Amino acid sequence: MLNPEVYILAIESSCDDTAAAVLCNDKVLSNVVANQLVHTQYGGVVPELASRAHQQNIVPVIDAALKKANISKEQLSAIAFTQGPGLMGSLLVGSSFAKSMALALNIPLIAVNHMQAHILAHFIDEEGYDKPEFPFIALTISGGHTQIVRVDNYFDMTIIGETTDDAVGEAFDKTAKILGLPYPGGPLVDKNAQLGNPKAFKFTKPKVPGLDFSFSGLKTAILYFIQKNKAENPNFIDENINDICASIQYTIIEILMDKLKMAVKETGIKQIAIGGGVSANSGIRNTLKEAEAKYGWKTFVPKFEYTTDNAAMIGIVGYQKFLSQNFENASVVSKARIQF
Ligand code: KG4
Ligand code: ZN
Repeated sequence: MLNPEVYILAIESSCDDTAAAVLCNDKVLSNVVANQLVHTQYGGVVPELASRAHQQNIVPVIDAALKKANISKEQLSAIAFTQGPGLMGSLLVGSSFAKSMALALNIPLIAVNHMQAHILAHFIDEEGYDKPEFPFIALTISGGHTQIVRVDNYFDMTIIGETTDDAVGEAFDKTAKILGLPYPGGPLVDKNAQLGNPKAFKFTKPKVPGLDFSFSGLKTAILYFIQKNKAENPNFIDENINDICASIQYTIIEILMDKLKMAVKETGIKQIAIGGGVSANSGIRNTLKEAEAKYGWKTFVPKFEYTTDNAAMIGIVGYQKFLSQNFENASVVSKARIQF
């Protein structure tokens, strides 16, 4: 019989956040994230530096997660780690550590798909948060991905739409860079947008067939718009930063909402769950909540700390895989690209 109390140590190191969490069944006991500030000066993630920073952070982060959870490593039932997708040098730090620790403790090793984890983060048991019921539609929006996923069960997921070029997080970050905002610009665009008029400037939405997305055209349109206006008024950005950010954010939200409406129409599923770093965006969160009354949808917006990269979401997938004894041996490999 399974031990009723399953303790999972989860490790996430797919990009530029070193994270560790401890879960007891589907409850989070600790969730520690070390952000890597080193990339800010380069305006984007530098893979080699990310890998090196993971090596420095991983021991203190795991130690902090165990201490916060008040758990000794001997009490752990299994170790879950991010197998991919992500930066290879970053993934390898987490996977090597997870393998060695599982081997030393003689406990199971569980490989987790980062994108599935963003979706299954909705199943973390949190007071005041409802869990979606199967089937539901997940909109996964991060710095690396933009996907609409039909979720029929924990591990029965089908991508029904995705970006053909930039991810929505990149759209936020790259336009923020055009505006002279530091990396990662998404949260700053959000902050300024809250003080601006979303209809001050109009940007054309891309025409992409079906449920797919494209954001590179929008980025170029914004670049030309800024260049043109700066030529007429060198202080254009400073004088209009809030309205520019609000208008860009409004356009991005419209693009996402158009496709979500289409996905609901095509599938007949009215439960929508969002995940990934960009789901921290206040405009997206508000628009989705409004859609409940407007379209009769039931929407699920994760707790703030489970939106951007974190290890608690890796842990909840680890817990589900533990229940079905879905374990790996030490020969499991990291994958920069990985499908469901
Ligand atoms: O999921 P995540 O932490 O990492 C990836 O797996 O990519 O997502 C990071 C992305 C970045 O592009 C960041 O700018 C964006 O999420 N982001 C936001 C906000 N908070 C984070 N974008 C818009 N508004 C926000 N509030
Ligand atoms: Zn992510």
